[in-house]
Amino acid sequence: MITHHWSYPISAIADRNSAEKNFMEIIIGSDHAGFDLKEACKAHLESLDDYIVRDIGVFNKDSSDYPKVAQKLARSIADGKYSHGILICGSGLGMSIVANRYKGVRAALCHNLYLARMARMHNDANVLVMGERVIGWGLALEMVDLFLKTPFEGGRHKLRLDLIDKG
Ligand code: RB5
Repeated sequence: MITHHWSYPISAIADRNSAEKNFMEIIIGSDHAGFDLKEACKAHLESLDDYIVRDIGVFNKDSSDYPKVAQKLARSIADGKYSHGILICGSGLGMSIVANRYKGVRAALCHNLYLARMARMHNDANVLVMGERVIGWGLALEMVDLFLKTPFEGGRHKLRLDLIDKG
């Protein structure tokens, strides 16, 4: 049975060693300008054995429209089907603008490790957004790791997040 939430056991993954192991299920998407980095992030996460990656495309470098991918991913996060997502376009700007229109989605455009860490600690960001034309891949993969491992601090930051939805 595969579930869509962090920390639930996923017992139907044939090539995993332990049926009791918990996996984080990540949804990832890009447009053509983020395709190569999306593939690198996906390969990286799949190599770690802690994650199951749901790739919603695009699946080649033909010209594509970033809003369609961002909308699909943001809807899945807003609906609670996934706890964490990754979006990549050329600059990261278009993806973050679109994703943040969805209630409950906190998409953080990050280009350094400090931002990736703070996005989780203070903003409880649930979507990491990156620009393939902006950052190097080594940095990008480190940001992915940091983003997915860093917990939200809660407390006063939770009160501030609550204010967002009241606005
Ligand atoms: C595509 O050329 C580019 O505009 C897109 O990937 C993104 O950067 C938009 O914000």
